[in-house]
Amino acid sequence: MTAQGLFATPDESIPPTSMDLRNTDTGEPLDLSNAQKEGRNTEGVRKFFQTGINPYIEDASCLKPGESFYLTSCSGCHGEIGEGKIGPGLNDDYWTYPKNTTDQGLFETIFGGARAQMGPHYDDLTLDQMLQVMAWVRHIYKDDVKAATWLTADQRRKFTPFKRGETFPDDPPGLCKAP
Ligand code: HEC
Repeated sequence: MTAQGLFATPDESIPPTSMDLRNTDTGEPLDLSNAQKEGRNTEGVRKFFQTGINPYIEDASCLKPGESFYLTSCSGCHGEIGEGKIGPGLNDDYWTYPKNTTDQGLFETIFGGARAQMGPHYDDLTLDQMLQVMAWVRHIYKDDVKAATWLTADQRRKFTPFKRGETFPDDPPGLCKAP
């Protein structure tokens, strides 16, 4: 193998998207060039930017890393299982901003922030990690599955509201790798 192969720099280009991504509070376009250089051009980010659907949702390999990023970046304000603290609950069917029921909307809120202490998260999470956190936020949902419009029909059929104490295998097959 060549040295270049061994030390290849990650692809830092941001995959194309036709989504019109906007700040949840101000409606201003999001500046994706603020994204960290790592984690920009992963399979998950490419798929999400193409389709507007987060492919990590209910992917078993993304839940454990998603939980760990959630516990570092979000739980201090939103609670360990999204029950709400100084920030609103994220595990129920009430949304201040109804757009957060969509993958695009939730991404926009995480990337660009909203009001008050809900700051932008491009400094502490890569684009790929944001998708993992989103998968975890969807997983801790505890209310009626009928309102979980972010799930596909198939995911909705299999979905059971989150209960504490769930364990995950260490490295299940899927799109994500253990952090
Ligand atoms: C420093 C505290 C703080 C942190 C850290 C934080 N949030 Fe928030 N979050 C808030 C506050 C306060 C609001 C309410 C803002 C508003 O209403 O505009 C909020 C609002 C939200 C909303 C909108 C909820 C709704 O009902 O529409 C979402 C979604 C959200 N946060 C997700 C996250 C995620 C995911 C993370 C971690 C990446 C995170 N937040 C980290 C404080 C925080």
